[in-house]
Amino acid sequence: MPMLKKTTLALATTLAGLTLAAQTQANEVEVLHWWTSGGEARAANVLKELMEAEGYGWKDFAVAGGGGETAMTVLKSRAMSGNPPSAAQIKGPEIQEWGELGLLGSLNDVAEAEGWDALLPDVVADVMQYDGEYVAVPVNVHRVNWLWANPEVLDDAGVEMPTTLDELFEAGDAIREAGYIPLAHGGQAWQDATIFESVVIGSQGGEFYQRALVDLDPEALGGEQMVDALEEFKRLRELMDDGMSGRDWNIATGMVIDGEAAMQLMGDWAKGEFTARGLTAGEDYLCAPAPGTEDVFAFNIDSLAMFRVSDEDEQEAQQALARLVLEPTFQETFNLAKGSIPARPDLDMSEFDSCAQQSLSDFQRTAEEGGLVPSMAHGMAVRADIQGAIFDVVTNYFNDEDMQAEEAAERLVNAAEAASF
Ligand code: GAL
Repeated sequence: MPMLKKTTLALATTLAGLTLAAQTQANEVEVLHWWTSGGEARAANVLKELMEAEGYGWKDFAVAGGGGETAMTVLKSRAMSGNPPSAAQIKGPEIQEWGELGLLGSLNDVAEAEGWDALLPDVVADVMQYDGEYVAVPVNVHRVNWLWANPEVLDDAGVEMPTTLDELFEAGDAIREAGYIPLAHGGQAWQDATIFESVVIGSQGGEFYQRALVDLDPEALGGEQMVDALEEFKRLRELMDDGMSGRDWNIATGMVIDGEAAMQLMGDWAKGEFTARGLTAGEDYLCAPAPGTEDVFAFNIDSLAMFRVSDEDEQEAQQALARLVLEPTFQETFNLAKGSIPARPDLDMSEFDSCAQQSLSDFQRTAEEGGLVPSMAHGMAVRADIQGAIFDVVTNYFNDEDMQAEEAAERLVNAAEAASF
């Protein structure tokens, strides 16, 4: 081949490469999320790789901070300045709030083409729609009310996995005597709220939880049952260590993994950490419903909402993202890493571990029998302003030795009322 031709060919190839790169750039989605722990990042990477395999670009917009409060603050400022990302992890009633602002794009075309109505359980599909249109796609279903444990530490202390709050406190004493921290915890408002929610359910039952922290009934919020629950909640401090203040949840999970602590009360994203360390459920670590909550499933559905954008390439990438998220490949691979169960119930679960299998069967059982409740602590139950006001009361009470449960209960009533005006 003459020299000139070779050069021309090389140039053409380079140009083609450049055009491809430029296209990929235009077909990019920027995705805001807060999946930054080891297990979470592994899971988020699944979506990035699937998008890239289809020729789309992925711009990661990860904002650290479990529970997503910081991510939501950053998202609001980006949206206010007229420059929202293509997609963001927005959940529960907050989807409605963003929908009301007119900022979300419709996913109805993908939803119809892929048959989402038939595919998704009602409880999941409802949350994803604003004004009758799909504006978000569900990624998974997390269960919040779990207890995780290191079996060697339990053995060493001569205790079994506790199934009631009384058993938890009893086991705690034995574990402390054996030289371990009974309960690993991170003192952050959302983590305090996460364990508070499990204690409300564990001590007073799912119906009371629903009345108090979902329906915000002032009699339930300020009544005797809430006072009892608040007292049990504060007692948990006896099982924790002095270093908990400000600790991230995954560091607390690490303490269980490393055998420094026996147990952790946390949603099943904690399982993502065990999995990332190569550990096997039922052998290297144990899971059980949070004490006293076996007939309740507090759900937390992660979802990605798409912002209304004008660029056609970006729109196309958003539609591809929405489609991929509900396809079996993503649902399986992502949820195996994340610790959750798939958002669509029709998948083969044989690859999933015993905790995930139990999660799925408890999800279905509680959906039929009652007991499937939205998680307040994870943005599924009440609007963000009310949730924030409840978090403040819960965390202040938990950290203030002098505040009595009666006062905290009164403040809960005020928080729910004040925030709704
Ligand atoms: C939750 C979120 C989970 C998990 C957790 C800790 O709010 O739904 O996916 O990431 O925070 O970061």
